[in-house]
Amino acid sequence: MTTQVPENVPPIEDWSRLLDGRVAVVTGGGAGIGGAISRLFALHGARVEIAEIDPERAEAARSDIEQAGGHARSHEVDVRKAPDVARLREAVLGEHGRIDVLVNNVGDYRPLVPFRKSSPESWDAMYQVNLHHVFLVTHAFLDPMIESGGGSMINIHSVEGMRGYPSEPVYGAMKAAVAHFTTCLAAAHGRQGIRVNGIGTDLCQTPQVDYITGWEKHEGLWPSWAPVGRLGWPEEQARVALFLASDLSSFVTGHNLPVDGGTRAGGGWFFSPAARRFVNRPTQL
Ligand SMILES: NC(=O)c1ccc[n+]([C@@H]2O[C@H](COP(=O)([O-])OP(=O)(O)OC[C@H]3O[C@@H](n4cnc5c(N)ncnc54)[C@H](O)[C@@H]3O)[C@@H](O)[C@H]2O)c1
Repeated sequence: MTTQVPENVPPIEDWSRLLDGRVAVVTGGGAGIGGAISRLFALHGARVEIAEIDPERAEAARSDIEQAGGHARSHEVDVRKAPDVARLREAVLGEHGRIDVLVNNVGDYRPLVPFRKSSPESWDAMYQVNLHHVFLVTHAFLDPMIESGGGSMINIHSVEGMRGYPSEPVYGAMKAAVAHFTTCLAAAHGRQGIRVNGIGTDLCQTPQVDYITGWEKHEGLWPSWAPVGRLGWPEEQARVALFLASDLSSFVTGHNLPVDGGTRAGGGWFFSPAARRFVNRPTQL
C-alpha cells in the first residue's frame, strides 16, 4: 500500500528499498561513516560508486556489498585532486549516464594544530581535506545531477562547524564553510530538483576517531559526556544520510542536522552522576 500524495510529491513504492536503482557516489566510502553509508545505500537498492583513497578499504566495502546482493564499484581516487575527480566523473557517467545522490564525506581534523602554532601550509592542508574537495566533487556532479532530473547532495561536516572548536579553529572554520555552502547551494538549485543537506557529526566510532582504544577505563563517563549517554556508531550517521538521500526527505533542503548524540544541544552542560544533576562547572563533576 502506498499513501495518497499529490502528483508532484514523489511516491514511496517500497519502504525497504528507499534508493532503488539510484546512482550514489560516496566519497571516502570505504570505511568509517562513508563505509556505513555505502553499505546502507546499497541495501536500499542504490548502485554505489565508492570514491576512496585507500584501495583496500574500497575493495572491502565493495565486496561486502556484492556478497549481500547489492551493486557497487570502487574507484581509487584522491578527492583533493582535480584529475582524479574528473576520472571519477567519467567513470560514473560512462557507466550509468546519470547521478542521483552525492555524499561528500571525506574530512579530517588531524593534525591538530593550535592556531598560534599554525601556518599557511597547515591552513591549506585543512582546506584541501575538508573544503576544497567538497567544491571540486560537487562542481563535477552538479550539472549531471540537474540533467538527471534532480537529486540529493549530502555533506558530512562536523558539530565543530556548528559550535566553537577551541582545539583547531581552522578545522572548525572549514566545517562551518561546508555547512554554509550546503545552505547556499540548496537555495540556488532547489528549483532544478537539487536538494542539499548537511550532517554535523560528533562522537562516532570510526578508524579516524577511536573513542574506545585506550579509553576503556573512562567508559563510565559517557553519561556525563553525551546527552544520549553513549558512544555513537557509523550506522547511525548512515541512517540519517539515507533519510536525506531518499524521498523520505523530499521537502527538506538547506539544513544542517547535528547527528551528535546531543552534544550541540547540551552545549556546556554535563550530567554529574555524583551530584545527580546537570552542572556547568567542571569542579561539580
Ligand atoms: N567520527 C567522528 O566522530 C566525526 C566527528 C566529526 C566529524 N566527522 C566527519 O565525518 C566524516 C567522516 O569521518 P570518519 O570518522 O568516518 O573518517 P575516517 O577517516 O574513519 O574515514 C574516512 C574515509 O575517507 C577516506 N579518505 C580520506 N581522505 C581521502 C581522500 N582525499 N580522497 C578519498 N578518500 C579519502 C579514508 O580512507 C576513509 O576510508 C569526515 O568529514 C569527518 O571530518 C567525523
